[in-house]
Amino acid sequence: MTTQVATARLSLEGVEYEFPIVEGTEGEKAIDISQLRAKTGHITIDPGYGNTGACKSSITFIDGEKGILSYRGYPIDELAARVDFIEVCHLLIFGHLPDRAELDHFKHDLMHHSLIHEEMKKFFEGYPPSAHPMAILSAMVASLSAYYPERNDDRDEKLNIIRLLAKLKTIAAFSYKKSIGQPYVYPRNDLSYCGDFLHMMFAVPAEPYKVSPVLEHALNLLLVLHADHEQNCSTSTVRMVGSSGANLFASIAAGLCALWGPLHGGANQEVLEMLEAIHRDGSDYQKYVEMAKRKDSGFRLFGFGHRVYKSLDPRANILKHTADRVLDELGHKDPLLDIARELEAVALNDSYFIERKLYPNVDFYSGIIYRAMGIPTNMFTVMFALGRLPGWLAQWKEMKRDPANRINRPRQIYTGENRRAIPTFEQR
Ligand code: SDX
Repeated sequence: MTTQVATARLSLEGVEYEFPIVEGTEGEKAIDISQLRAKTGHITIDPGYGNTGACKSSITFIDGEKGILSYRGYPIDELAARVDFIEVCHLLIFGHLPDRAELDHFKHDLMHHSLIHEEMKKFFEGYPPSAHPMAILSAMVASLSAYYPERNDDRDEKLNIIRLLAKLKTIAAFSYKKSIGQPYVYPRNDLSYCGDFLHMMFAVPAEPYKVSPVLEHALNLLLVLHADHEQNCSTSTVRMVGSSGANLFASIAAGLCALWGPLHGGANQEVLEMLEAIHRDGSDYQKYVEMAKRKDSGFRLFGFGHRVYKSLDPRANILKHTADRVLDELGHKDPLLDIARELEAVALNDSYFIERKLYPNVDFYSGIIYRAMGIPTNMFTVMFALGRLPGWLAQWKEMKRDPANRINRPRQIYTGENRRAIPTFEQR
């Protein structure tokens, strides 16, 4: 819900124009330029959309200057401490925290849709063992539309949302088992969402697998922290693709591809590989901080910086303390955690990072926890996707119901050749 609070005036080529200034429920203000081109013949240009609001949304709020993040008004640190991932999925997708009956019903639905069609197992056979699991995940999610064609009614939509939420963890675990040549482990209905995922990932036929409460709790926290993050690159991709009328599975498959990028969800894998490189290089973290400051190095301190957060990402703060606790509870010592801490301390006191307001983001510590859980580095972005799925689903659903929504089609400023005649072969 926004209200018009003032008017912006634009003086252009001697003509005065007025545009409404609207305010959101947390006091954010925007100039509504939806009539700009019709009134002035001009468009705006904003590469990377750093100053452009694509939609109004009631799902997630971020205040980047204050390091605030909330899902439907509940602060992230309170959700992380008190609510499990399936409750957060319900909150994001259906708009409220479930009561006991709703939660039991939701969990029952998710359990009874966690299998994938047996025919889909054949898809895995075509991939080389070296296939990145994100390639498999996005292809498998798009392929779900072949098994569950959308009839564009609300009942269908809700069922497909449940199906995807239930099946993504199965597809993720199967892609891991495929990559290590082990047999698939099927979902179990007597385990929690997180327990079932860990079981499908790490159980082997030869011996019984007992889900560790420490790992189950750590995974639940990681998934809650990744569940939504307003209009980030992958969520905007889901909205963009969905705005054309493409089905839910195609829209989420596109979001998975966007998340895969090393500047976005792929950063957690990059952080681990960076920390391992520093460790191999005698833990000379100062050298890498200096390299990150030199543009010509082409090197960035992965896990640092954020388009929106210009103070510490609240999720990074929670994960920093979680890494400590999980490693202690597992009795692990990880030199990479020590390197990460040193990197953070040096960077936060270095003028290059201070001036640019570069702080650790959600990806900086998450990989250390995944590693302690035994999850391989190339599965880290898959873990991010498992967490982000409810956010994508909620944002896609909100977009479909937004009366202001229409196919996303940005404009451009053309900088190419002016009109010219086609040369003959002799003239080329
Ligand atoms: C996620 O948007 C979301 O909400 C994303 C996310 C979510 O939950 O969905 O939070 C998840 O994607 C977190 C970000 C993970 N990515 C990384 O950790 C990759 C490393 N970080 C960056 O590449 C960068 O900080 C971005 C991509 C995160 C943000 O890029 P911006 O906003 O386009 O900022 P920029 O690249 O213009 O950087 C501004 C300045 C530049 O220097 P100058 O040209 O001003 O001299 O800061 C520098 C950059 O060179 N800079 C860095 C840096 N990040 C920015 N320098 C060194 N190391 C870095 N990590």
